[in-house]
Amino acid sequence: MTSSAPTRTGAACAPTRGPIQAEPLTCTIGAELRGVSLADAARDHALFAEIRALLLKHRVLFLRDQDVTRADHVAFARRFGDLEDHPVAASDPDHPGLVRIYKDLDSPPEHYENAYHCDATWREAPPMGCVLRCIATPEVGGDTIWVNMVEAYSRLPEHIKQQIAGLRASHSIEATFGAALPISKRRALKISYPDAEHPVVRTHPETGEKVLFVNSTTTHFVNFHTPDNVRVGQDFAPGASQLLSYLISQAAIPEYQVRFRWRKNSVAIWDNRCTQHYAVQDYWPAVRKMERATIIGDQPC
Ligand code: SIN
Repeated sequence: MTSSAPTRTGAACAPTRGPIQAEPLTCTIGAELRGVSLADAARDHALFAEIRALLLKHRVLFLRDQDVTRADHVAFARRFGDLEDHPVAASDPDHPGLVRIYKDLDSPPEHYENAYHCDATWREAPPMGCVLRCIATPEVGGDTIWVNMVEAYSRLPEHIKQQIAGLRASHSIEATFGAALPISKRRALKISYPDAEHPVVRTHPETGEKVLFVNSTTTHFVNFHTPDNVRVGQDFAPGASQLLSYLISQAAIPEYQVRFRWRKNSVAIWDNRCTQHYAVQDYWPAVRKMERATIIGDQPC
């Protein structure tokens, strides 16, 4: 009988290895991978394929002690697809696609990461996922929370699932990253990045699962005002905003979450199509430095 253990490709006499050890961190989301190097996975097709399959299963993966170069970080993330920069947060000048999320004493008080969100749903095609590495972390604080939005959808009451089937919503960079800008810059940002419209329930393109797809950048439903939802015009604004607030609040339910304590060189890889995250902003004025490779995604449907 032959062994089914995968072997690393590309190296003569490479040692065989067993499957990656993945320890689930909660019952619903998140696993820590042991004995894996991102630098190896950037070059090893079989190893990368295994990580990709684990990502679909656990939705967010954590790795410790990834003392890798920025080039390796980018090379690993690029195995998922092309990377994108961010219109407001700058990237490392030598590594396009590697966004710096640096906070210190002088950071302005706005911390847009401390709201439950999917990254960049104000894009027509929001990111597929991200690879985030910790460069510096406070001694205590600065954790990040991820939420399983497949679970959030599946545990909605049946009458809510019926009401939101077919609903679409608008997502805005203007109301989030634009909010602290002077009005002229805010308008310019909106012209470059007009609001995007997405289904309230998207289907995960790889697993086929249904995902609750509204977050803190979602401003309103675009097709709520129908006879099914509205008896008289007066019902429209409160009915729509109460339903949207209720849906957005689902991400805060602890049973759908995992919370990760960072150390220098810890890495998180998440599937942005079916999760949200929240970076806890409890550490000011301590320094926290993160670098994020953001992988271009597809248009939700
Ligand atoms: C993000 O919101 O993408 C960054 C999360 C973090 O800094 O922990």
